Amino acid sequence: MTMPTTLCPNRMQVHSVYQETPDVWTINLINHDFYIYDPGQFALVSIENSGDTLRAYTLSSSPGLSPFITITVRRLDNGMGSNWLTQSVKPGDYLWLSDAQGEFSCANIAHDNYLMLAAGCGVTPIMSMVRWLLANKPSANIKVLFNVRDEQQVIFSREWQYLLGQYPQQLQLCIMQGSPDRGEITQGRLTQQKLAALVPDIQSRVVMTCGPAAYMQNVQNFATELGVDAANFFMERFSTEPLLSEPALTEYKPSEAGKSTENSQTVMLKVRHQLTDYSVPVGISLLAAMELNKLPVVAACRAGVCGSCKTQIITGDYTQSSQMTLTAEEIEQGYVLACSCQLRGNIEIA
Ligand code: FES
Repeated sequence: MTMPTTLCPNRMQVHSVYQETPDVWTINLINHDFYIYDPGQFALVSIENSGDTLRAYTLSSSPGLSPFITITVRRLDNGMGSNWLTQSVKPGDYLWLSDAQGEFSCANIAHDNYLMLAAGCGVTPIMSMVRWLLANKPSANIKVLFNVRDEQQVIFSREWQYLLGQYPQQLQLCIMQGSPDRGEITQGRLTQQKLAALVPDIQSRVVMTCGPAAYMQNVQNFATELGVDAANFFMERFSTEPLLSEPALTEYKPSEAGKSTENSQTVMLKVRHQLTDYSVPVGISLLAAMELNKLPVVAACRAGVCGSCKTQIITGDYTQSSQMTLTAEEIEQGYVLACSCQLRGNIEIA
């Protein structure tokens, strides 16, 4: 079997697939070579073993501890990657993964006290790090707040029970259920008041969070208000949320290539190698503009972390929120990360 893309050079064999919740599965992978990663990092996965579609998934296993490399995936109704991984992939199949990526990791944090906040599938890097910290740092004290819709949605429920039994002095887990909500402190949405009451020593902890973007933003605001030093706050950046949540796309309908019209709400996206123009909403990301007009682009993390959407801009008016994986030479040549490039005016790509 040949490597589908140089971005994913690591071939791994599926050992088994374990269902965690009604819509989340953990895929256990046998890695025949040495695979280096830090707890909390993610990898790109080649979907259907093709080079066209990559998706980013956290490695939910822990280096040096887990018998398998694992990814834990929630099936999304319209998610091509998650449907393939959870419904089609079976033991014996092969997957291709990138090298481990990402900076959301506790591996290089010199601290003993942690508060980990997760919502839904955001618990995957948290489990990777909690398992690793408990095994490698006897002085670690970890409090986990895990927000779920209801008790059926607790990912890794068996392993949480095991860890709580093994490390009763070091680990505290609070599962916050959205329903039923009888007004108790551990029910309903996380608020600043609940956080302050549940973690009165929050200022003395490193705070790490992963979940939907809005959840993480709330956590950051609450932590800041409660006096957590910015240097002690970390959140995961990549997301599998669909681009159609972008505000600029609410009313947008892709134009027919070559017949685009420009107005004050739109800008022109020119594609030099196609000699084609597209009219796209001002403020849209370059990635969304390309995907909506069916231009080829690979995007795995959608958050300026993985580098898979690298695109060369010849000229244009735009801003960038991340250049994380670009070299100085690539920046000099006009490369941007399409997911992290917002269009302010007309633009021409190679
Ligand atoms: S999709 Fe990962 S950097 Fe853009």
